[in-house]
Formats: sequence, structure tokens, C-alpha cells
Amino acid sequence: MKQLIDLITEEMEEAFEAAGYDRSYAKVTLSNRPDLCEYQCNGAMAGAKAYKKAPFMIAQDVVDQIKGGGCILSAEMVKPGFINIKLDDKYIAGYLNEMEADEKLGVEETSNPQTIVIDYGGPNVAKPLHVGHLRSAIIGESVKRICRLMGHKVLGDIHMGDWGYQMGLIITELKKRQPDLVYFDESFEGEYPEEAPFTIGELEEIYPTASAYAKEHEDYREEALHATYLLQNGHRGYTAVWKHIMQVSVTDLKKNYSNLNVDFDLWKGEADAQAYIPDMIEKLKEEGYARVDQGALVIDVKEESDTKEIPPCMIQKSDGASLYGTTDLATLVQREQDYHPDQVIYVVDKRQELHFTQVFRAAKKTGIVPEETRLRFLGFGTMNGKDGKPFKTREGGVMRLESLIAEINEEMYRKITDNRTVSQEEARETARTVGLSAIKYGDLSNQASKDYVFDVDRFTSFEGNTGPYILYTIVRIKSILNKYTEAGETLDGLSVTGAHGDEEKALMLEAAKYNGVMETAFEELAPHKICAYIYELANAFNRFYHETRILAEEDKEVQKSYIALLVLTKKILESCIDVLGFEAPERM
Ligand code: ARG
Repeated sequence: MKQLIDLITEEMEEAFEAAGYDRSYAKVTLSNRPDLCEYQCNGAMAGAKAYKKAPFMIAQDVVDQIKGGGCILSAEMVKPGFINIKLDDKYIAGYLNEMEADEKLGVEETSNPQTIVIDYGGPNVAKPLHVGHLRSAIIGESVKRICRLMGHKVLGDIHMGDWGYQMGLIITELKKRQPDLVYFDESFEGEYPEEAPFTIGELEEIYPTASAYAKEHEDYREEALHATYLLQNGHRGYTAVWKHIMQVSVTDLKKNYSNLNVDFDLWKGEADAQAYIPDMIEKLKEEGYARVDQGALVIDVKEESDTKEIPPCMIQKSDGASLYGTTDLATLVQREQDYHPDQVIYVVDKRQELHFTQVFRAAKKTGIVPEETRLRFLGFGTMNGKDGKPFKTREGGVMRLESLIAEINEEMYRKITDNRTVSQEEARETARTVGLSAIKYGDLSNQASKDYVFDVDRFTSFEGNTGPYILYTIVRIKSILNKYTEAGETLDGLSVTGAHGDEEKALMLEAAKYNGVMETAFEELAPHKICAYIYELANAFNRFYHETRILAEEDKEVQKSYIALLVLTKKILESCIDVLGFEAPERM
């Protein structure tokens, strides 16, 4: 469906033309004085110079041409030359009914579906997920869902950090503890066991122990580095250990991400890129893109228009080892070969921006990625504690994701069982659902690139701009609809017929904005715009609810229109939270 604002603009264009002015001045915007009007057009102000005429005269000419019968109920000239617009409630009612009848509530799928790879999550295998990984998962998941809603073919890739020094550390520590394991027997030629020699719990203890020990002990560190080197060069026993680490970690990661309602289409990682590196480097050398700089191999990526220094992208260290950039470039080689994406979107901490600038430029310059492919960096800010410093546990350690979720769920559980009799089981389940909304909405309602303060008290509140408030609103609508049907009425065949009060009209106008919001959120990769919208929509609904006796309404036709509006409002809210990656319980 066309956006309502475009339909209003079209009507204004007709009026401008009929009055003898150019259509291009007819642009309509949301009113910045909602007390006076619903939409406005400032085109007469813009046209004054071209027509050498006072803006109010132009505005009056245009207003005189509005004949009615369309979406505009009234247009008024306001000095010095604004046009204030009010819409016809019957027209909006029709628009809302059309939305309701449409499976996608008026969102038009693209006629030109793209293949989009989203690189998000980025956990480091064998290290526990911490809050830093939360943002990538939450934002990436939402961006993925937005792109899908618009009709694009999207592949979400977790891109695990599964090939680095942490693997060498684990191998070294394991060898120290159990030197007799068959993986460390260089003469062993048989099949390695299927079962891993450790559980996830042990693995999560082994890594930090090894990491701390290596910092203190030079030779242990050397050994871990050497183990990493051997692994990366195909050592048989170490490769078998690596596979065990992967198996055990991926099972655990799947569980953790699924608790967050996050899922990936591709479970690839840095290790998968390794096979592409030797050929890529060979080619880059041959074609003259890579040059040797102090023994290292680099690609120059600076451009004339740069205002700050962009250092070359390093692709090989002097000892022959590859780097983060090498892996990201090789991953692009693989993505290009397997999916030929139109866009690749990276949802990564904004502190990695320079790295991605280098990688993107190198990929374009060398033709690893065609010129028309869009490489986008969606960098996010830091999640801080109330003290404004990066979020920590009370003891000052790195906050594990599991602990954070547990803390929120506890708080939610307390709120839900406060003064209420709910079964323990239901309360636990609801606490999980509402807790997730608190975390996700708390994150997504901020523009991704900004740092934000993770405030447990605020995020779990049922009032204000929070996830629980949005869910509470949905649950309230569900409860009204349930009561309505329990009284023997049906939700079938209802339609919105018009507005019977100001709050109702305000809600109708808000509901009609849905498709426009989704389109903007897609263009700008901006889930926060969806949050801002549903907050407004929920507020508009709650104002209407407080001013209106919906279930006690005696005029059945009016009541039906109310109910139809509620049904649509609920659908919109549900679609929005689905795109944000959480859902509403039946009751709370
Ligand atoms: N594993 C990395 C980290 O924890 C993030 C990976 C981001 N994605 C990428 N393609 N480099 O910092």
C-alpha cells in the first residue's frame, strides 16, 4: 500500500498544480504542532521566491483548490504561509481496513529482492558470551527480520571467532593436565574418539585459567602460540581437539542464542575462511595490489578525500601469519563465491570501524567484491552500567550474558508475583518472556551507534518507554478482545467506520503510519525507529482506552468500530515486536 503521507502529498500536488504552481512544492510532513493540525505543508514558503509572491497568497490559492472527497478534510492557510491539514476520519478508516485486510498490514514487499548477508553475533568460541556480544545479537537479529519483512533474501551468519590464540591456549592447558590423551601422541595414526574429553563447564574453566597463566608465564605463552601455529597448519591431533571444542561450544551457543530468540542461518566462522587465504594472497600479489612493507604484506587503501589517516590493510605478517583483516577479506571471497550478495551488513562494535573501512576498501579495490555490492558497517556503541562505565558485575568482572539474563528474569519474576496469585510455573515463563522484552527493547530503543546505560530498574518497569510497557499494552488489548468474544460477540467482519472522539482519531492516525515506519527502519537499518513508533502507538492506544468505555459502549456499531481498531492496533504492535525479536505473553 502507498504510505498515507504520500497520498496526502498527491492530493496537495493536485491542488498546487490547479492553483498554477509547481507540484514539487507540495511536500507534506507530519505536523510539528499536533494541537493545531495533523499534517502540514510548507511548500508555499519555499515557493515564495520563485513566484515573487507572498507565501500566504500562494498558500491561500492552494487551499482554495482543495475540493474534498479525498483524504484531506480541511486545509487552512496560516500566516506567514503554512498550510495546516486535517484528515478525513472516514478516509483513514478506509485506509486502516485496507491494512487489516492485507497480510503484511500495508507493507509493500520489494519488487527487487536482494540477497543480504548479515554478519552478527561474532562470539568467540570457548570464551563465555558476555554483554558485549549481546548488542550484536540483538541488533543483528532485528535488522535481519526487518530486511526479511521487506521481502529480501537474508542470510544471518554468526561468524564465530574460532581460529585464534584461544584455541592454542586450550590445547596447551589440556596437554598439561592430561598429557596421555591420544591427541598428543604424535605417533598415533588411528581414529580419534567421537566424544570430547571435556564438558562445556570444564571448557569454560580451562580457557580463563590458561589465559591467566599465559600472561604470567613466558614459556607457557610460547607453547600456546606454537600450538596455535601447529593447529593452523593442520596438526592432526590438535585439529581433532579443535573439532571437539567446536562441537561442545556450538551446542552451548545454540542454547544461549535460542534463549535470546536469536537464530542464524549460517554457523560459519573465521576457520571457514582459512581455505581461501593462500589463493587470495597469491592473486593479490600477482595482480600487484599487495606490496611488501617492512616484511609484511599490505594493501594501500587511503583515498584522496580522506580527512584522517587510513593506514594500509595488513594481510600477512612478516612471519607469514594472517590477521583479522585477512580473514575478513577471505570470508568475503567465500561469500561472493557462494551467495553473490547484493549487500553485506556487519553488526559489530563501533570501535572496529577503522578495521572495516580498511577491509571494505581493500575488497572493492581488488575486485574481491564487485563495485555495486554494498558493504555496510553498522557499528554499535557500548553498553554501560549506571556509573557510565562498561557494564560489569558487582565484583567488577566482565558480566556474563547468562548472569545478566538471570538478573533481569529474577526482577521480572518478583514484579509479576507481587500482589498477585499466579502459578509459579506461569510466572517463571512470563518472567522470561517479559524479561527478554526488557533487555531487547532497552537496547534497541537507543540508536545503535550510541552508548547507553543498562538500567535494570528502568528497563523492567511497566511504565514509560520500556519493553514491558509495550507488552502490557498488548496484553490489555488481548484482554479486552477476550472479554468481547466471551460475551458472545465475534471478531469477524468488523471494520473501522470512523472516529468518534479525538483520542480515537489520534490512534487511527498513529496506526496508519506503520508501513512508512517499517520502510524507514529498513532504509536506515534503524530498529530504534520502530521502538519510537510503538511507544507512540501504545501511548495513543492507552489514551484512547482511558477516555473510552469500550466494552460498555451501547451503540453496537460504534463498539464494532472500536474493536476493529483494537484488532488492528494489536496486529501492528505484534508485528513490530516480532521484528524487534520478542513476543508478548497471554497475560501478565
Ligand atoms: N569475534 C569478534 C569480536 O568478538 C567479532 C567479529 C565481527 N565480525 C567480523 N566479520 N569481523 O570482536
